Amino acid sequence: MSAPKKLFIKTYGCQMNVYDSERMAEALGEKGYVEAKTADDADMILLNTCHIREKAAEKIYSELGRFKGLKAAKPDLKIGVAGCVAQAEGQEIMRRQPMVDLVVGPQSYHRLPEMETKIRQGEKALDTDFPEEDKFEKLKSRPKAKRGPTAFLTVQEGCDKFCAFCVVPYTRGAEVSRPADRILTEARDLVERGVREITLLGQNVNAYHGAGENGDLTLAQLIWQLDKVDGLERIRFTTSHPNDMMDDLIEAHGTCTKLMPYLHLPVQSGSDKILKRMNRSHTAESYLRVVEKIRAARPDILLSGDFIVGFPEETEADFQATLDLIAEVKYGTAYSFKYSTRPGTPAAERPQVDDAEASERLQRLQALLSRQQREIQESMVGREVGVLLEKPGRLSGQMVGKSDYLHSVHVSDCNREVGDLARVRIMASSTNSLAGELIR
Ligand code: SAH
Ligand code: SF4
Ligand code: F3S
Repeated sequence: MSAPKKLFIKTYGCQMNVYDSERMAEALGEKGYVEAKTADDADMILLNTCHIREKAAEKIYSELGRFKGLKAAKPDLKIGVAGCVAQAEGQEIMRRQPMVDLVVGPQSYHRLPEMETKIRQGEKALDTDFPEEDKFEKLKSRPKAKRGPTAFLTVQEGCDKFCAFCVVPYTRGAEVSRPADRILTEARDLVERGVREITLLGQNVNAYHGAGENGDLTLAQLIWQLDKVDGLERIRFTTSHPNDMMDDLIEAHGTCTKLMPYLHLPVQSGSDKILKRMNRSHTAESYLRVVEKIRAARPDILLSGDFIVGFPEETEADFQATLDLIAEVKYGTAYSFKYSTRPGTPAAERPQVDDAEASERLQRLQALLSRQQREIQESMVGREVGVLLEKPGRLSGQMVGKSDYLHSVHVSDCNREVGDLARVRIMASSTNSLAGELIR
């Protein structure tokens, strides 16, 4: 028998791409591919790409440039591009980098095995359709390797919101929710394989409305179904839109013990003028009201956000409104970006903010966010938290995991197994992590 072929996947972008890369590896596993540790070692390289900002997209072309030498040395090497750049620029990729053999969009991954056959025959394969069939059904995972204690599970994909800056509605397509029974089957399967924590994924995960036995389920109802899965200890979800933060979901944060006290709730800006131009369909005030309700249901919840600085026509006063909102909310962690012009989106046509000005604002915003992050981390010292142990630490006897609030925690003198949920007292806070001791 010939040696198995090796596949190297490099993943960029959001958590959904991480999930998708696992599914693609499984799909190609059916064709005899096993994982390669490095690109040098691979018979096929797949880049799973992100189109959200210009830098992310341009990086792919320089990365592809670097594979030229590899391909010259190993003519049988196949190179593929998947993900959101593939969807947005499929033809262009093939034109700019003729050594690319395969381009596959996020809705066509289940067709990878056929596409692989085609490229092995020396043809090119390009598929950026939005097919009718259910890719998740076709991508059902194969037998049953053990895996680590945390996993992602896509429950909703695509977006109908069309924020004026964003490519996602174009690259991922319209909002679709998966039926609840399929999600539950996948969750049980993950738990059998060792998973203790599942993060439900969707571009607008809280708009979930998948079919259940008696009509559509809300995300909260789905979470309560998952709550009954024995062996599953923690549930998280991301990313939520402020307008879809329904009362039953807010309530679940107060009553469902498996649902972790962490919520990623992007606001993008604190200025109503900018929010309107972003087509966000919420105001600073309505966002703050949602935050208030969530904190009433779960006072210790850790909030996380996304911010765009330097959106077209943002003035210093608009920017100040964002700083004010941040000061009021107090984020435990946040992601902030300088606005990046995306071809084909409405904001690309608007008067742009001076780049140096935008960079300077971003620095000020990030200084405030890091200060808040540090304060909230320091406030954890002395507290008792749950930590799901994910791997051994660098020091002898130490283990590393995530707290209920998603902080990385180094637990000293920890004679427990990976996958155990430990009670830990937090003893110290450093830049990006906490240190703690087991409560015995
Ligand atoms: N669906 C999620 C996140 C989508 S993309 C949501 O609605 O929140 C992740 C983040 O990237 C966004 O929240 C936004 O802050 C940022 N982003 C999206 N498009 C961008 C652009 N053109 N320039 C800069 N940042 C952008
Ligand atoms: Fe993009 Fe807005 Fe949809 Fe989020 S809600 S994916 S930012 S269009
Ligand atoms: Fe990027 Fe696509 Fe995710 S553009 S952020 S990989 S949905």
